[in-house]
Amino acid sequence: MSHNTIGHLFRVTTWGESHGPAIGCVIDGCPPLIPITEAEIQVELDRRRPGQSRFTTQRREPDTVRILSGVFEDETTGGQVTTGTPIALQIENVDQRSKDYTEIRKRYRPGHADYSYDVKYGIRDYRGGGRSSARETAMRVAAGAIARKIVPGLKVRGALVRIGEHEIDRSRWDWDAIGSNPFFCPDPVMAENWETYLDAIRKDGSSVGAVIEVVAEGVPPGLGAPVYGKLDQDICAALMSINAVKGVEIGNGFEAGRIRGEDNADEIRLDDAGNPVFLSNKAGGVLGGISSGQPVVARFAVKPTSSILKPVKTITSTPEETEISTKGRHDPCVGIRVVPIGEAMLAIILADHYLRHRGQTGRSAGQSAGQS
Ligand SMILES: Cc1cc2nc3c(=O)[nH]c(=O)nc-3n(C[C@H](O)[C@H](O)[C@H](O)COP(=O)(O)O)c2cc1C
Repeated sequence: MSHNTIGHLFRVTTWGESHGPAIGCVIDGCPPLIPITEAEIQVELDRRRPGQSRFTTQRREPDTVRILSGVFEDETTGGQVTTGTPIALQIENVDQRSKDYTEIRKRYRPGHADYSYDVKYGIRDYRGGGRSSARETAMRVAAGAIARKIVPGLKVRGALVRIGEHEIDRSRWDWDAIGSNPFFCPDPVMAENWETYLDAIRKDGSSVGAVIEVVAEGVPPGLGAPVYGKLDQDICAALMSINAVKGVEIGNGFEAGRIRGEDNADEIRLDDAGNPVFLSNKAGGVLGGISSGQPVVARFAVKPTSSILKPVKTITSTPEETEISTKGRHDPCVGIRVVPIGEAMLAIILADHYLRHRGQTGRSAGQSAGQS
C-alpha cells in the first residue's frame, strides 16, 4: 500500500498494524540539533493513550516509545539532539486480543473500512482493521512531538468543543481547564454536563460524534504557498486524514457562507510601533494560502464510533445479509482521544511549511525580504 508519507521537507512515514508486533514511523528531513528525548514524546503519547477515564476504551496500550535512530549527545549541552538523519520511532503492540475480532472475520462492520479494503485489495486484516485502525495515529502523535519543536515559539493546543447535541459556551473558554477534566474541554461547566450525557450513551450501547478545535499560536507570517501548496489546504488534508474525521473548517469556516462581507472582514489597523494589527480572525490565520501571523485556527468533526453494542444491518463477504453488534472494547466518543492527534497533524504541517519557506526564500519565516 502506498501513500504512508506526509510532508515534503519534514517527512513522516508511518508503518505497522494494530495486531502486528509493533508500529512505528520514520521522520526524514528533521533539522539537526533539535533537543528531543523519549520522555518528551511520551508526554504527548500519554495524552492520547486509551483507558485514562471511563469515557475512553479500556484497552491497555501503554504506548511506550523508543527512539531507534537519528539522535546523539550534544557535546556542548550534554543533552540529546537530532542529528539530521532519519529518526525512527517504535512502539510495541502489547494488547492485541485477536479473539475479540473473530466474529467479524467475514462480516463487514458498517462505518469501518472492512468493505472498501476488501474491494480494493482483496485481502484484509480482520483482527482490528490493520492499517485502518486508529492505532496508527499513535505514531502521528509521536512525530508531532518532534514537529512542535521546529518552528521557534510555536504553541499548538486543541480542545473538544462539541459532543453530540452539547456545545461549549465560548465565553467560558479557559485553556487551563483542559487538563482538569477527561474531555480536553475548555468549558468546565460543559465538561460536567458531558459526563452525564456520555454515561447515558455508553450505557445505551451507543456512541456519539464530536467537534474539535485546534489552535496554533506563534505561527510566523509567510508560511504556505500559492497555488497548490496553500497552508490551509494542507492543514485540511492532514486533519481529514485522521480516522473518523468527516468535516474540516478553517477560521469561521462554514459560517462564512452565511454572513455579509463587512461582518466577515478582518479589519486592519496599525499599533503604536507601526505594525499591522488585525481586529478579528475570521480567516483563521491564513490569507491566500499564506499565514498572516495571526493564530491558525481549524475545527474538525468526527463521526460517532461505528462499533456499537446496538445491532446494525450488514452483509458478509460471501455475500449474505446479516446483522452485527460489537462486544469488544471501544471508545463511546472518539472525539476525546482525537484531540492530541489533531494537534500533532497541525504541528507536522506547520513544521513542513516552515522548512519549505526557508528552503525557497532562504529566510526564516517572519523575516522580510532583504533581512538576513
Ligand atoms: C483515536 C481514535 C480511536 C478510534 N477508536 C474507534 C473504536 O474504538 N471503534 C470504532 O468503531 N472506530 C474507532 N475509530 C474510528 C475508526 O478508526 C474509523 O472510523 C474507521 O477506520 C473508518 O475510517 P473513516 O471513519 O475515516 O472512514 C477511532 C478513531 C480515532 C481517531
